[in-house]
Amino acid sequence: MRLLFIGDVVGKPGRQLVAQLLPSFLQEGQVDLVVANGENAAGGLGITPEVAAELFALGVDVLTSGNHLWDKKEVMPFLDREERLLRPLNWPGDPPGRGSLIMQSRSGIPVAVVCAMGRVFAPVLLDCPFRALAREVERLRAEARVVLVDFHAEATSEKVAMGWFLDGRVSAVIGTHTHVQTADEAVLPGGTAYITDVGMTGPWHSVIGMRTETIVQRFLDQLPSRFDVARGPRQFNAVVVDVDESTGMARSIRRLFHREASSPAGPAQGSLDAGP
Ligand SMILES: [Fe+2]
Ligand SMILES: [Fe+2]
Repeated sequence: MRLLFIGDVVGKPGRQLVAQLLPSFLQEGQVDLVVANGENAAGGLGITPEVAAELFALGVDVLTSGNHLWDKKEVMPFLDREERLLRPLNWPGDPPGRGSLIMQSRSGIPVAVVCAMGRVFAPVLLDCPFRALAREVERLRAEARVVLVDFHAEATSEKVAMGWFLDGRVSAVIGTHTHVQTADEAVLPGGTAYITDVGMTGPWHSVIGMRTETIVQRFLDQLPSRFDVARGPRQFNAVVVDVDESTGMARSIRRLFHREASSPAGPAQGSLDAGP
């Protein structure tokens, strides 16, 4: 079976690009389950019930998240009633929502999806993601052989360590949060597909999705400023993981990296067979 994981969808440009590309992937029966990180889907910061509904309607089956999940306050009550939107599993205390779910793929196979956050350079004091994921994966594997982990973290070392830690226990460990796709995708020796960061889906002429001028000015003057989502050509970053559903281990992981032309902006091509 093939799982499609779409990197952090940033604002309306990101959602529009998902709308443009995802239907053809699904029509051609190329993917059995679609997961997208939605922490930046509403105006670049957070997610709202309306934006989540828009992504679900396009064919996204599960939305994962991260540190920006809480940026729009409407999300708090929504997390308790929408199980397809995951919060970080190891967020401390007792926040609303849940960090994992099991759902049926389009071909009827149970698939577990888990979302957790790294602690290195994290903006809050999180519970240990290694212990939290070890426990959760053990529990989920009793019901689903196929397990996909979104590990939302800043430090490359922590993400690489998590890949090795979970190798042979989950189908895939997909890194998110830094918004820049890495070229280290591999199936590890135990059978876990891994990539340090899947990248982002949204404005390309931007600083990880946000308007370049604003962010550069912030680095120059160190004063707080309002971030807004950039415009212009867009990029679609994702991975496709092929999993042997009888063992839950990965056969392959392939990066998708589409960029629209700088000028004039042209449409991205919607084929899962295009290489990076
Ligand atoms: Fe993000
Ligand atoms: Fe993040």
